[in-house]
Amino acid sequence: HRSRVGYTFEALQESAQYLLERVPIKPKIGIICGSGMGNIADLVTNRLIFPYEDVPHFPVSTVHGHVGQLVFGYLEGIPVMCMQGRFHYYEGYPLWKCAMPVRVMKLVGVTYLIATNAAGGLNPKFKVGDIMMVKDHVNMMGFAGNNPLQGPNDDRFGPRFPPMSKAYNTKLLDVGAKIAEEMGISDIVHQGVYTCLGGPNYETVAELRMLRMIGVDAVGMSTVHEVITARHCDLTVFAFSLITNQCIVDYEDLGEANHAEVVDVGLSKQFVIQEFVSRMVLQIKEI
Ligand code: HPA
Repeated sequence: HRSRVGYTFEALQESAQYLLERVPIKPKIGIICGSGMGNIADLVTNRLIFPYEDVPHFPVSTVHGHVGQLVFGYLEGIPVMCMQGRFHYYEGYPLWKCAMPVRVMKLVGVTYLIATNAAGGLNPKFKVGDIMMVKDHVNMMGFAGNNPLQGPNDDRFGPRFPPMSKAYNTKLLDVGAKIAEEMGISDIVHQGVYTCLGGPNYETVAELRMLRMIGVDAVGMSTVHEVITARHCDLTVFAFSLITNQCIVDYEDLGEANHAEVVDVGLSKQFVIQEFVSRMVLQIKEI
């Protein structure tokens, strides 16, 4: 049995085919629900749900009690497909496996990706519960030679050497800012630079100080590899972070990051996040 880096195009077509045979809609927007933000998918009507383990070639979840399913249906009248639960590098999957659902989205007809995540706020202006629309990222794992596009390139997805200078669509960032104004939440909606580390541990003070120095505003453990994969296959990307904790950059600070807090902030902000995402979807419909 020959091992291979990356899925073949044909394998991912089988995943897409399985879904297309079972859903009457062609989703236009793919939505990845971040930690504590799974309830974005609760707004979807005419829901059709597929646990990841039922979809051919989807990575098998090793984490017990971890929700993982695709939710198809309509949001604001637009056909969408949501990932409730995503694959993280710290679970033991290589990045190309973590990001594979994005290619499946592409193959079922998705053209827009909305990726959400929980993140620690490094920008001192950010408060817990704020939203940071991602205007750019630093692919830290890429610096260390780890990238979801490693392995043979299939030109049917995209080019061997894709540009990444327009990763986050500027029109959608403007739309997001306008929606924040309409919702009266401009004071808590920012733009900034996101980075993904492998995790699962949270960062040391020295690591966070370094990230701040290089211009990072929020730090998490996801999204970057999904966005790289999405841009490779030419999806238009909008991403935002919910700031669930302030990063500790002083040794005197008594606080410590913890997962319970991350999930709690997601739940406490669920209505704002749901409305923000719904309005984004509605605006994308107009584009
Ligand atoms: N660091 C990394 N990932 C995170 C954090 C953090 O502080 N908060 C939520 N996800």
